[in-house]
Amino acid sequence: DRSIKIAPSILSADFANFGQEIRAIEAQGADWVHVDVMDGHFVPNLTFGPPAVKAFRPHVKTFMDVHLMIAPVDPYIEAYAEAGADMITAHWEAGPHPHRTLQAIKATGKMAGISLNPGTPASVISELLDLVDMVLVMSVNPGFGGQKFIPSSIEKVRQVREMIGHREIMIQVDGGVDPNTVGPLVAAGADCFVAGSAVFKGGSVDNPAAYGENIRAI
Ligand code: DX5
Ligand code: ZN
Repeated sequence: DRSIKIAPSILSADFANFGQEIRAIEAQGADWVHVDVMDGHFVPNLTFGPPAVKAFRPHVKTFMDVHLMIAPVDPYIEAYAEAGADMITAHWEAGPHPHRTLQAIKATGKMAGISLNPGTPASVISELLDLVDMVLVMSVNPGFGGQKFIPSSIEKVRQVREMIGHREIMIQVDGGVDPNTVGPLVAAGADCFVAGSAVFKGGSVDNPAAYGENIRAI
């Protein structure tokens, strides 16, 4: 009996109105707020540094889920923790020492996630499972919202769920999540869904009810 969480990605929000957008998605039923941090190096796009994340913090009443798509990642963990992240997720591919990275996240007292790119097999995290609260299976190549879901992610979720066994670890899926892709992902063992375009499409801070409809449709 796992509860399903929806974490809208503010990468698809109106960048001139983050405070209002965050309040709107939370009022419309978002469980978490997902913040995509990109560095123009690990991924070909640039987004939010620690000061931006710190500015989001007072608007987030639920849970701030910070997805770090940056390399190196270790030098910035403390800054994102201080900015107010509740969960910090780093990529397995971000450096040679993902174990050390997870230790560093744990040392801040925040929850720790490890993320896998579509080209990375599930097996690489076998020695990391005792250090994580969440495994993020990327179902697109990270960098942009609005990409097409990669179907092999479903089988990867199944493999990760099997590896997790009786441990209490969430599985998050990020990229191309919509009402069509979520069913098989839940069946495979995922319990937390990031959605950008599927939540924000057709809505705005002036029409937040559309966000609610979109969230409930997922
Ligand atoms: C992609 C980001 C995602 C993205 C998802 O690099 O990690 O969180 O915002 O957007 P959609 O749901 O539109 O694929
Ligand atoms: Zn993300």
